Amino acid sequence: MKVITTINEMQNEILKHKELGMSIGFVPTMGFLHEGHLTLISKARKENDVVVVSIFVNPLQFGPKEDFSTYPRDFDRDRALAEGEKVDYLFYPSVEEMYPREPSVKVMVQERTDVLCGKSRPGHFDGVATVITKLFHIMMPTRAYFGKKDAQQVAVIDGLISDFNFPVHLIPVDIVREKDGLAKSSRNVNLLAEEREQAPIIYKSLQTAKKAIDDGEINPAVLTTMIKELITSESNGEIDYVEILSYPFLKPLEKIEGSLIIAVAVKFSKVRLIDNIMIQID
Ligand code: PAJ
Repeated sequence: MKVITTINEMQNEILKHKELGMSIGFVPTMGFLHEGHLTLISKARKENDVVVVSIFVNPLQFGPKEDFSTYPRDFDRDRALAEGEKVDYLFYPSVEEMYPREPSVKVMVQERTDVLCGKSRPGHFDGVATVITKLFHIMMPTRAYFGKKDAQQVAVIDGLISDFNFPVHLIPVDIVREKDGLAKSSRNVNLLAEEREQAPIIYKSLQTAKKAIDDGEINPAVLTTMIKELITSESNGEIDYVEILSYPFLKPLEKIEGSLIIAVAVKFSKVRLIDNIMIQID
């Protein structure tokens, strides 16, 4: 595995493979890799000739009061994990390499951001779309792998690829969970012990809502109240949002039908956790 820190070198390596007609699988990450990331990487490994993983904690997607400085980082550990997954290239640029000056152009996301994390994290998806645009130009991937844990991110990248005509196949990957159901996240290490014990209620509440739908509940308001009550009664977390929307267009629903997402964000003392389930009603 080769670790590359400059854009120039990375692009030149990719071009060599592209000239030979090789497929490129790309997994963008912010590091502190866990099984969620590794699942994306192993899928990329199975489906492509060359696998590139990027590790870059992108300042553009963090708000001024968010956790950019405390976001967990451990490059040596990440390097060993990536090597274990037979990654070909690990792209690990500095902030100065990616943003040598104030950007003269930024990508602004127009749709699918007035809800969920887009609403409570203004500018977040502009930062994601900007860095992914840069990374797509650097890696020229055949396939790019994104986790459904960040379902709104998948919806935004889907719009970015189609609006800007990137010749990239978006591959969404199922959420990987801890044994107790908590969605794996680099941020979980910043939960206090007591909060870590409470956090599985997030997924449990989503499953309870799913069961209610299976039993015939079609009113989104009843379901969101059910989820909120469960989370507040069984944790100290403060609910940021509980929303039920169409997917991938992320529009409000009057009743439970079609392709939809139930998404939740909960703030604990040092971390904000997100989770979701997607449901298809035929
Ligand atoms: P990061 O949070 O490091 O996540 C990298 C990728 O791993 C994302 O596509 C995310 O959805 C996926 N992922 C994280 N936890 C997962 C889990 N439990 N199961 C399945 N997939 C999971 O998302 C980002 O980084 C950044 O926004 C990025 C796309 C790199 C742009 O900066």
